[in-house]
Order: sequence, then structure tokens, then C-alpha cells
Amino acid sequence: MEMPTKENAIASNREAWNDSARHHRDNPEWPALLKAVERADFSCIDDTLRTVLEQVGVAGKDFVQVGCNNGRESLSLFALGARSVVGIDQSAEFLEQARELAARSPHNAQFVAADIHHLPSELHNRFDVALITIGVLNWMPDIGEFFRHVARILKPGGALVIYETHPFLEMFDPETDDPYRLQSSYFRREPFVQTQPIVYEGKVEQQSAASYWFVHSLGDIFTGALDAGLAISHFKEYPHSNREELYDRYEQQEAQLPLCFTWVALKS
Ligand SMILES: C[S@@+](CC[C@H](N)C(=O)[O-])C[C@H]1O[C@@H](n2cnc3c(N)ncnc32)[C@H](O)[C@@H]1O
Repeated sequence: MEMPTKENAIASNREAWNDSARHHRDNPEWPALLKAVERADFSCIDDTLRTVLEQVGVAGKDFVQVGCNNGRESLSLFALGARSVVGIDQSAEFLEQARELAARSPHNAQFVAADIHHLPSELHNRFDVALITIGVLNWMPDIGEFFRHVARILKPGGALVIYETHPFLEMFDPETDDPYRLQSSYFRREPFVQTQPIVYEGKVEQQSAASYWFVHSLGDIFTGALDAGLAISHFKEYPHSNREELYDRYEQQEAQLPLCFTWVALKS
């Protein structure tokens, strides 16, 4: 397979996510979400992430969510006490949905359409906490470069909080007859490529711009962050799945794989 350049992969991912937005709007969960965000105490943040955020401290803090998608998690941060919230995503189509949700919410979140690798300088040194959740790191062609950009938008002493899927899962294919058969190297360098629309459940049999999913080992993630001047202060792995329903089959096993992790690093 011919590897795309970093720029081409990022641009193609943007196109794929923009195309994906209409499929998410068609989901029956969308009207329910439009209603739910009207409540001041709306939150879709699960107990695992809430516990970590509370340890870091939310009350009175200025937050940014990187890869905020439709902004439902960004809006949830107000219920935990955030003072201000900015969501960043390179998909203008998803940010349109985020703004639609924000217009119904009693809270005032700001949404910025930008590729994380080209952030406006007004965002530099602005945030106490940067949040990254499920399914963001793997869209980044170079994890070290990504962390350098995220570090720039934190204030000195600011915290980066990550709640992500575990990279061990990239070795398995949950859709095969033997979902525990090792299918792909943990150290895989070439991205997984999908040319069907990105949806969280099932498949849509249509063509879409190619989306490029890069595998980053825990070692790459730790080293990338340390090289970007981020000091890791928390790392915990969990036996529950936080990704597509297909991956629930890896839960509740005698020989349990780690399925997701939380991670905190501080900017010096
Ligand atoms: C799986 S979604 C995150 C979903 C989020 N955890 C949630 O539950 O709402 C990943 C998001 O990352 C965004 N993204 C991917 N590459 C990006 C980039 N280079 N800069 C900014 N956003 C990016 C995509 O547009 C997409 O909205």
C-alpha cells in the first residue's frame, strides 16, 4: 500500500469525518441528545473519566477538548464545574452539530474548526486542562508532533487528560470467527485504511473519502508526551471497553486484556 503523506492523511480524514456527520444526525440518538443538552446538569461522561477529571480538578478551570466531534462531552464539562470550555475539531460538519447542541444548552461553549496541527495562536497558553477522549489519538499520523501541538495550548502547569481505547486492541479483529487471533502487529507502522463512511455501529455500504487510522503503542504515546515536555502523573488500564459495541466481546474474560486507559500529564 502506498503511504499517504501526513498532510494528505489529515485532509482525507477531515473529508471522511465531514461525510460521516450526516450518518450521525440520522441516528435515533440525535433527537434525544438535542433534548438532553437543555438540562444544566447534562453529562454523558462516564464514571471512569469523571473520577479522573475530579482528581485533576474541574471546578473553575478553563477546558479545551481536542477532537470534540459533536461537542456533547465538551458541554458535559459544565455539569462537573468547568468555568469555560472550548471544543476543537477539524470537521466543520460535526461542529455545526456541536453549535446546534450548544444553542440549546444553558452553557456557553465555544467551538473552533481547526486541524490540531495548525491551531490559531490565540489558543496558545490558554487552558488549565485539555481533554482527549475515545478515538482521537489514532487519527494522528505522528503522535509526538500531535503532543507538541496540544502542549502549546496548555498554560504552564496545565494538565492533559486522556481517556482512550487500548492500543493492544489494534492487534485483534472483533469481526472474525476467532476474535482472539492475533491479526496485526502491535508495532504496525502503516495505517488501517477505510473507504466506507465512519459510523460507530455497523457498516454503511457506500464509498467515502479514505480514513487513515494509525496505531500508536503505549511506548510511542509515553515517549511522544515526554518529548513534548509533558510529565506523566497518572496512568491506569481498565477491563471495560469504551469503544464500538463490537468490542464488548472482549470484556468479562478469565484472561482479561486491558481495553482502555486513562492518562494524565502536566506541562512544566
Ligand atoms: C471518534 S471522534 C471523537 C469522539 C468523541 N470521543 C465523542 O465521543 O464525541 C474523533 C474526532 O477527531 C477529529 N479529528 C481527527 N483528526 C483531527 C485533526 N487533525 N484535528 C482536529 N480534529 C481531528 C474528527 O474530526 C472527529 O470528530
